[in-house]
Amino acid sequence: MLNGKTILLGVSGGIAAYKAAAICSKLKQAGADVRVIMTESATRFIAPLTFQTLSRHDVIVDTFDEKDASVVSHIDLADRADLVVVAPATANIIAKMAQGLADDMLSTTLLATTAPIFVAPAMNVHMYGHPAVQANMRTLADRGVRFIEPGTGQLACGYVGKGRLEEPEQIVAAIERFFADRKLLQGKKLLVTAGGTVERIDPVRYLTNDSSGKMGFAIAEAARSMGADVTLVVGKASAALPEGIRTVRIESAQDMLEAVVSRMPDTDILIKAAAVADYRPAEQAKQKIKKQDEEMTLKLVKNPDILQTIGSLKTHQYIVGFAAETERIDEHAIDKLKRKNCDLLVANDVTQEGAGFGTDTNVVRIYDNNGLVEALPVMSKLEVARNLLVHVAERIKKGDKAN
Ligand code: PMT
Repeated sequence: MLNGKTILLGVSGGIAAYKAAAICSKLKQAGADVRVIMTESATRFIAPLTFQTLSRHDVIVDTFDEKDASVVSHIDLADRADLVVVAPATANIIAKMAQGLADDMLSTTLLATTAPIFVAPAMNVHMYGHPAVQANMRTLADRGVRFIEPGTGQLACGYVGKGRLEEPEQIVAAIERFFADRKLLQGKKLLVTAGGTVERIDPVRYLTNDSSGKMGFAIAEAARSMGADVTLVVGKASAALPEGIRTVRIESAQDMLEAVVSRMPDTDILIKAAAVADYRPAEQAKQKIKKQDEEMTLKLVKNPDILQTIGSLKTHQYIVGFAAETERIDEHAIDKLKRKNCDLLVANDVTQEGAGFGTDTNVVRIYDNNGLVEALPVMSKLEVARNLLVHVAERIKKGDKAN
């Protein structure tokens, strides 16, 4: 599974450092070329010689210990890596990564690499739950760092709780899944809509909604990391646009309809995560509307339903709709899926904590024509995106087409 892959294993100084030996060994057994960097404090828990023997390479601890004069070690290792995994990751290395500090070999290499990074935290339960640690992890997650969550149980410090390094088998399985996922959507052209539409009342006023764009951006990023050729159609969004993804900016539902429909023939997968206004002002005033009477009535007219339109036009495309619901989730979701001729529909109950508009997380239920496919617990929008895209990829592979 990992043949030909170079994996950089960063070991920081916690008691779980001894488990990193098993990670190193399992990665090697799976065919990876494993390079190990240890922090000074990690060497207090386990000897570099253990990793040297398991990886069959020198282990680097000191930034200035340049063994090969023809290369600069931290740049060479950073460039060589197909993936970096920091396991165990202490609160200290997580903080350094979040702040961009480079005061030892591991933190310096982590700054220099452009490879994907996995972080497997391990620490005391209170340290793990500390707002500073949680904020640092959120910062890193926003930058695309993937976390392998610690388990819950008896900790070496005597406490029982969350903070135990995930088991080496699970860490290696996550890495294997990552490389397998990278090919899941290879050769597929995917278009995703994100953000809210803006329906102008006059030159300075408009109707919109609370969509931040995060859900759609997460889908775009996850799809790219699975090998898809991604186009993002974005309305109003408060979250930062993902870098390096082809992006089309639009304003109104009508603009979005045109942007999506015109690209349909050249698209294999369409995902509509945008929050589209159902109505727009019947008239758009050319000049700023002046304050007049005590009351004012704004007449609205129905917008085109983009999802329904593409559902009716679809040929080879695989179509995924979203639904923001507040009640009778299953019933409304299945009704939307059928009415709009989608292949999958993702419903979020936007009344739930950690779900829906503006949050970094979501809680979704995924449906197909036969009903519920999967109900996912609260997880980051990136994880929701990955789970959804795995379903899409598997169904396309099976030849599951539009109805
Ligand atoms: O952007 P975030 O802050 O991360 O928030 C994410 C989200 C809550 C916006 C997202 O997860 C979500 O649920 N998006 C769909 C919101 C929505 O418009 O739901 P709806 O039930 O009103 O519409 C159902 C589907 O029809 C959606 O795919 C929508 O894009 C589409 N639609 C709706 C109206 C319309 N005129 N045209 C459409 O295409």
